Amino acid sequence: MWSPKLFLVSLCISALSTCTAAGGGKPLVSAVTKDASTSLYTAPLKDGRPLVLDLSGPVITLTTCSSKNGTVTTLSANATDGANPLFPVSFPAAASCGAPPKLPAAAVGVAGLGPSSQSFLAQVARTQKVANKLALCLPSDGKTTSGNSVGVAIFGGGPLIFPDRGDFTTMLAGTAPLRGFSGSPGYYVSANTACLGFVRAAGQAPAAVLGGFQMENRLLVLDVEKKQLGFTTFLNGVGLSCSNFNFTLAA
Ligand SMILES: *[C@@H]1O[C@H](CO)[C@@H](O)[C@H](O)[C@H]1NC(C)=O
Ligand SMILES: *[C@@H]1O[C@H](CO)[C@@H](O)[C@H](O)[C@H]1NC(C)=O
Ligand SMILES: *[C@@H]1O[C@H](CO)[C@@H](O)[C@H](O)[C@H]1NC(C)=O
Repeated sequence: MWSPKLFLVSLCISALSTCTAAGGGKPLVSAVTKDASTSLYTAPLKDGRPLVLDLSGPVITLTTCSSKNGTVTTLSANATDGANPLFPVSFPAAASCGAPPKLPAAAVGVAGLGPSSQSFLAQVARTQKVANKLALCLPSDGKTTSGNSVGVAIFGGGPLIFPDRGDFTTMLAGTAPLRGFSGSPGYYVSANTACLGFVRAAGQAPAAVLGGFQMENRLLVLDVEKKQLGFTTFLNGVGLSCSNFNFTLAA
């Protein structure tokens, strides 16, 4: 007898990689901290040491490594169900060597999140079998807006659940198409000049924040495949901040 279930199983066996990718692994979660002296955002992705997050960076760059030609390094973060960290995950990543100047003192490199096949985001997508997607909630410095200075990033996309408030990746206030997928280093919002980024690389156009709106204390959902940016309302306006993510390991 013809069974739809069996048919699906055999389809999956004959195209295992497709099914695995579609079925998905678990996204990775990391705390995001704003460095007071440089105003750059970092995440502890290299043996617990911070990498600077760079939305316009095409690659992972380490400040010190054995070869000038690039290296394979081990990075780590926690798998997540969107509500809590679940368990630590380490994975190999290709990195280049020699970082831009003016990194925060503790930083050991840069995690480029730009539209490139060698970006941190693309490498997480390949190794973890998750979407090439980022849910990013940047913390404030605690002065201009409420909340402390720890935000959250989920590499692989959502859900991103705040305790008792639900999945905010499904509560977007709007979306905007992204440009910049044909060789340019960053993501541009229909603001050819306004680039989504915060690292000012020498010799490049200044990285301006998105058109007039603040990136901090909003949830941004950057979908590289759909070339779309989603954003929620200002979280402080609904009694939350990016610091509300629950970083306690799930029991
Ligand atoms: C780096 O790459 C260049 C060109 O491919 C090569 O000539 C050189 O030997 C390499 N250096 C190291 C340290 O691997
Ligand atoms: C995983 O999460 C726990 C709890 O928040 C944290 O202490 C630990 O540093 C995280 N591990 C990594 C690799 O980020
Ligand atoms: C955070 O997560 C832990 C582990 O699941 C849970 O015990 C705790 O109640 C959560 N905290 C909040 C504020 O929801």
